[in-house]
Amino acid sequence: MRLQDKVAIITGGGSGFGAGIATHFAAEGARVVVADLNGAAAENVAAGIARDGGTATAVTADVTARADVEAMVAAATGTYGGLHILVNNAGYSHVNKPMTEVSEDEFDRVFAVNVKALYLAALAALPALRAQGGGCILNTSSTAAIRPRPGLTWYNGSKGAVNTLTKSMAVELAPDRIRVNAICPVIGETGMLQTFMGQEDTPEIRARFVNTIPLGRMSRPADIAAAAVFLASDEADMITGACLEVDGGRCI
Ligand SMILES: NC(=O)c1ccc[n+]([C@@H]2O[C@H](COP(=O)([O-])OP(=O)(O)OC[C@H]3O[C@@H](n4cnc5c(N)ncnc54)[C@H](O)[C@@H]3O)[C@@H](O)[C@H]2O)c1
Repeated sequence: MRLQDKVAIITGGGSGFGAGIATHFAAEGARVVVADLNGAAAENVAAGIARDGGTATAVTADVTARADVEAMVAAATGTYGGLHILVNNAGYSHVNKPMTEVSEDEFDRVFAVNVKALYLAALAALPALRAQGGGCILNTSSTAAIRPRPGLTWYNGSKGAVNTLTKSMAVELAPDRIRVNAICPVIGETGMLQTFMGQEDTPEIRARFVNTIPLGRMSRPADIAAAAVFLASDEADMITGACLEVDGGRCI
């Protein structure tokens, strides 16, 4: 068990990569808080973990709302007595379209969910992580930060901010023994796939994306979860500020 007795919060844990991370963390012995805007989805993932013999609690939380984020951290410390791992995974994107067709509301939402949420989570979680004598923050970024595709400009920029924030938080929090890393997935088979494709999900359109990935397939929640388990575990004790591509070679 690589995460035995660790307490972890996973935002956006109700679906896709977050659900995969929550499930894999629990299988490695972590006690997990599954946080999601979609409370029913979070409940569903937590119930699945419990059915498999793991330990999980579901919390309905909007990562852009300060009170929700504070309540999410309080759920971890109140239920499990502390916090070791925070996974900022919830994300949002405008549909793939020309940059000038993205509304101001969509732009604000992209930066609130993908960037401001890291700020709010840091304010809420750092006291608990410091009290624990250290810990780990993982941010779900994207290959969009490194190899931007057209039609996703404002989303790409928000993930660029995630990579810079990951490195900046890593140097500032190193004296507290808090490691901060990011995972950069290539396009994956999750709830956001259609948004990124911006058109009907057909075998031809999928093939167009897959053709840009040397290993020849999209990413899956299990791929991202495996990287997250490693980065959150003590095996990664010397790794901080890394933005790890899990992308089948897309960024080469
Ligand atoms: N799927 C991809 O192709 C891909 C590629 C690279 C990076 N990512 C990133 O992966 C992360 C997870 O997305 P996914 O692909 O698993 O999509 P998903 O739609 O399957 O899951 C996202 C989850 O986040 C939740 N969420 C959205 N806004 C929220 C908010 N304000 N507060 C709390 N929860 C919220 C949703 O309810 C959903 O359960 C995102 O940060 C996304 O940007 C996705």
